[in-house]
Amino acid sequence: MKIIPGPASKQLGEKIAELINAETVPIIFKTFPDGESYIRLEGEVQNQEVFIVQTTSPPQDAKIMQLAFIADAAKRNGAKKVTAIVPYLAYARQDKAFLQGEAISIEIIARMLKAAGIDSLITVNVHQEKVLKKFPFPAKNVSAIRLLAEYFRNKGYAGAFALAPDQGAMQIAEEAKKVLGGECGYLEKQRDRYTGQISVEKKTFDVRGKTAIIFDDIISTGGTIVAASKVLKELGAQKVFAVCVHPLLIGDAERRILEAGAEEIVGTDTVPSHVSKVSIAPLISGIIREHKSG
Ligand code: R5P
Repeated sequence: MKIIPGPASKQLGEKIAELINAETVPIIFKTFPDGESYIRLEGEVQNQEVFIVQTTSPPQDAKIMQLAFIADAAKRNGAKKVTAIVPYLAYARQDKAFLQGEAISIEIIARMLKAAGIDSLITVNVHQEKVLKKFPFPAKNVSAIRLLAEYFRNKGYAGAFALAPDQGAMQIAEEAKKVLGGECGYLEKQRDRYTGQISVEKKTFDVRGKTAIIFDDIISTGGTIVAASKVLKELGAQKVFAVCVHPLLIGDAERRILEAGAEEIVGTDTVPSHVSKVSIAPLISGIIREHKSG
């Protein structure tokens, strides 16, 4: 078995390889002056089962192409099975046509990856797990919420209130609650499909004087977390933390979240960033070990 750390997740791939004591296959990677990606495997993969670690955070399209090229190179060079570990799976939120005339982006990505030679995929906190059932190869989702909640428990926030900023994130808040041991709840969120504008319905939670932690899968523009932080502050929460698995933090998201009253933003290294304080390497290495013994 070999690990190929892709250019978008080099550190994470190397960490995973170290944890499972697997050899890595270095790759030469460059971007041509016109923006096209180039990759070349610098090691042997003949008859090997390989795991490519490559996230697909912005710029998504380039990283998806790099992943496809690595898979193709691995197969052409004799790899017997190629598993893509895609910590953040781009386009997963477009899993249906919300408005007439739209494409179902994630289904196209799945078919492309299959065509590139990928035999199976592992991802982390995909927006809707059911989308993976439509993939033309086995695709597995794992959750990093336990690791994020443990980060806060270890910092002394056991008993904190876990808030899901919308109903879709309630499962995440429940997972966090199991580790933190406090209460949990969710907000009703509406997003205007044309403007992207977010509104949340007021709810009453007993968070007065308490620490409240907002758990979401993704922080993109920050609109969701800003709205949720404001609600918690209005309800009298003493401290508010903003937590997500995938910290995309587009534009001035970070500044707006902190201005809305959050003390700190914590994410994982599915998307490498300065808020990636929790690594998913132990989680993924556990899955690879299971996979090996299974
Ligand atoms: C949507 O349902 C997701 O779970 C996140 O809440 C959303 O993607 C976050 O986006 P933004 O940061 O732009 O509000």
